[in-house]
Amino acid sequence: TRTYVVTGSASGIGATTTRILRERGETVIGIDLRDAEVEADLSTAEGRAAAAAKATELAGGTIDAVIACAGISAPIPKTISINYFGVTELLTALLPALAGSEAPRAAVVSSMASLQPNSAEMVEAALAGDEPRALEIAEGLAAQGPMVGYLVYPSSKRALARWVRRSSIAPEWAGAGIPLNAVAPGTVLTPMTADLLATPEGAAMVDGAVPMPLNYHQPPESIAHLLIWLTSVENTHMAGQVIYDDGGADATLRGDDI
Ligand code: NAI
Repeated sequence: TRTYVVTGSASGIGATTTRILRERGETVIGIDLRDAEVEADLSTAEGRAAAAAKATELAGGTIDAVIACAGISAPIPKTISINYFGVTELLTALLPALAGSEAPRAAVVSSMASLQPNSAEMVEAALAGDEPRALEIAEGLAAQGPMVGYLVYPSSKRALARWVRRSSIAPEWAGAGIPLNAVAPGTVLTPMTADLLATPEGAAMVDGAVPMPLNYHQPPESIAHLLIWLTSVENTHMAGQVIYDDGGADATLRGDDI
């Protein structure tokens, strides 16, 4: 059996991924704010470091795969800290534990929102590793109300997707034999989207931004199975891909001009 670290394991996509892996007999060390083997706040540098240390300890020093699902979509500055730095810093801190595996793998959850309008300035600050600057830009946006503040979310996912592209071919990842990829979901039926989809206005807004001609809103299993394949022994050569598993939203919005 393999040992997986799954962030966001207490809810939605992370919980579903954890459940399926355990049903298959794999070992999962969950990281979440609560109801997890490792209870930590990935919005802070201390929380990330503590989570990495505790997960490594519980795994006995060697981790076979990391699946980073934890994230929020709120129009607040914290969204960039959790969705970008909470993923990239944690993954980087877990590299030594992955090095001990015979088939190390990592996958993260971006979003088709990474294709939506975003703050290029915030994306660059994040990619430069400058969390204080990224937070400052996010605060400026959030102060202008939820419509503008929403930009923090697509910015966080855009930055994460670009980080995966860059890092996947770096010595630490490709050079160390670790496939690193991202999944970009459409609208997934989880607690994150439940409130918004509960009203006709909210659902219309979501569907306007994320058209899903194939099978409409997706269950978390549709993402979990892909994350599991990406982090399986079978994935030997896929690197740096942002896979839009989104009911055709990406193909609808971007067409064939790729
Ligand atoms: P969810 O809200 O059901 O689960 C997210 C989990 O992350 C929760 O258990 C929460 O406690 C945890 N989390 C939040 N902040 C944290 C922190 N500071 N430290 C540690 N854990 C924290 O959401 P869902 O839908 O499962 O989302 C999972 C990922 O998928 C997120 O990154 C989200 O942005 C992404 N996504 C979701 C979509 C959807 O339609 N639900 C669409 C595209 C992407």
